[in-house]
Amino acid sequence: MTASAPAKVILFGEHFVVYGEPAVVLAIDKRAYATAQLRKDQRIYINSTDLRVSGTFKGERFQAEKGGSKARLKLEPIKNAVQQVLERAERKTGVNVKINSDIPVSAGLGSSAAVATSSIVAVSNLLGIELSRDQIFYMAYESERLVHGTPSGIDPAISTYGGALQFQREKDFISLNVQTNIPLVVGNTRVERSTGELVANVRRIKEHYPSIIDPIIGVGGKIALDAVEALKKGDLFTVGELMNINHALLCAIGVSHEALARLVYAAREGGALGAKLTGGGGGGCMIALAEAGKLKRVVKAIEQVGGTAFVAKKTNQGARIEH
Ligand code: PMV
Repeated sequence: MTASAPAKVILFGEHFVVYGEPAVVLAIDKRAYATAQLRKDQRIYINSTDLRVSGTFKGERFQAEKGGSKARLKLEPIKNAVQQVLERAERKTGVNVKINSDIPVSAGLGSSAAVATSSIVAVSNLLGIELSRDQIFYMAYESERLVHGTPSGIDPAISTYGGALQFQREKDFISLNVQTNIPLVVGNTRVERSTGELVANVRRIKEHYPSIIDPIIGVGGKIALDAVEALKKGDLFTVGELMNINHALLCAIGVSHEALARLVYAAREGGALGAKLTGGGGGGCMIALAEAGKLKRVVKAIEQVGGTAFVAKKTNQGARIEH
């Protein structure tokens, strides 16, 4: 049984979303695939080709097959996702789960959420239990909490539902009916970073300078709401300008990086309507919005300053069964 779930880009509102502001997120056409098989014993074996780790969980015990001492930490969230499904199914069985993914890891594209979501869908279907999308989301969110302490839930939400969402903590997500194409280039700095550390650092400066940082966070939310209106109207020029302003606010709260700045400026000079970092920042990825005819030029401009880049399309396909 194989299932898949999409990667995401945050168009607007990363970090500000942690403090209750709205964000806009898009599922893109890169996916993680999980294949699940029953085992005769009660162990959970997980093999992730992309993380280059594999191993077997037997209760609380873990035996690494590949990846040595780092394997357990990397596989624990996937095991947690699988275990939640086994518990709900009330089945005393083991499973093998194999993960393959097109999504760059640790880059702000929601790879860990897509892996957890696809694993939940694959294992639940293997066991013949039907989960609603909301149940899939909550299980993936629980597993995501192991990756970084206080996630907003934006990654498991978009991976589960697909499409474009307006997301706000502790509110229902609003599915955005965006008719226009949103032609994007994703540029990867290939600088690895930890979202958890970046989120913690923003919290630190917010606590230290509340009268300065709180208004920035509020403006971040306002940009996201204006962007929703511009997206609904298909006004890509405004969306691009709002992306540039959003990027500046993210610089102000300390989550940009020299490599991100290089890629963002290269994309703008290459003809993008707007460019910003996406996700946690501190390295990882940036996105550029460009008219369809200019996408290739923007890809080249990013590559010329040392990034890797690809054109990304929005997908309405959330988590799904493959076969
Ligand atoms: O770097 P990513 O893809 O995990 O995105 C993180 C988004 C943040 O807003 C920075 C954190 C969160 O939990 O929403």
